[in-house]
Amino acid sequence: MSYTVTTGATSVDCGPDQPLLDAFLRSGVWMPNSCNQGTCGTCKIEVRSGSIDHRTSPENTLPQHERVAGFALACQATPCSDITIDPPIAEEPTSTHVLHDFVATVSEVRDIAADTRRVLLTLDEPLTFSAGQYVDVTVPGTSTTRQYSLANPPTEPKLLELHVRRQPGGVASEWLFGSIDVGDRIEMTGPYGDFTFDEENTGPMALLGGGTGLAPLKGIVRHALALDPDREILLYHGVRTCADVYDADYFRELESRNSGFRYVTCVSRENGGDREGYVTDAFVEDVASAKEFTGYICGSEKFVEASVKSFKRRRMSPRRIRREKFTAAG
Ligand code: FES
Repeated sequence: MSYTVTTGATSVDCGPDQPLLDAFLRSGVWMPNSCNQGTCGTCKIEVRSGSIDHRTSPENTLPQHERVAGFALACQATPCSDITIDPPIAEEPTSTHVLHDFVATVSEVRDIAADTRRVLLTLDEPLTFSAGQYVDVTVPGTSTTRQYSLANPPTEPKLLELHVRRQPGGVASEWLFGSIDVGDRIEMTGPYGDFTFDEENTGPMALLGGGTGLAPLKGIVRHALALDPDREILLYHGVRTCADVYDADYFRELESRNSGFRYVTCVSRENGGDREGYVTDAFVEDVASAKEFTGYICGSEKFVEASVKSFKRRRMSPRRIRREKFTAAG
């Protein structure tokens, strides 16, 4: 059994237990989305006719007065009848890749920094995605899923690279830092998210990543440099201690091959790295004007907010700032 969900001239089928967003993305119809957990509000829609179940939509993202006014979170709400909606306002689709379920094989698990691992996954079929997007990984033997950004570029669609950080006691961490083994088969869904490489702007780029927030930035940097090896790209990686730095050799090697690429590590809680302190301060010190730049930020909520301020202080247009907030689910 399924219901029909219509927006404008487009209709998709949606099961009674299926979130509206899931139905659109699986049909290859773009709808803005970011967290897919009900926390960011990116997918907020207006229901014009029919009825829905808000399910676990959080009150702080979708307050009561908005529910009464007909708003809903497409990543949480399910249909109770055929419905018509007005989708969120999006300037343009950032990804039109069809969402789907797939199975990957673990091909490598490696410790790369303190409490940080790289997991490489081989796919039977290539995954079509945009640089910077993420996948949902199901913890084997459970119904628990966790989101991980892809650190590989879309030109490597059959070898996915994930960077994972241990969260003590977390069910996914217990697995990823415990029983996971090469050859394991893992169920996944993707690609998700609107944190993607901006193909339209070909000028300089600045990327600020906190901890494993480096992952999607690595995919974006690799993709951007493959398209234009001379492009001016500044990558700042912020960590707490020197033991948290990873992939430095990789990025140094990229620096040696691409004259416009600059890589800076910032260590905030001890002496070390290229700079002591925060990436946000280093960026403001280094760049007099970011007016022509496109910006990418990935990290904790605090990190993202501070980074947006730094970009704006250097006059980067808010329209050119893309951001991805991490949640520390273990
Ligand atoms: Fe639905 Fe974030 S609230 S994508």
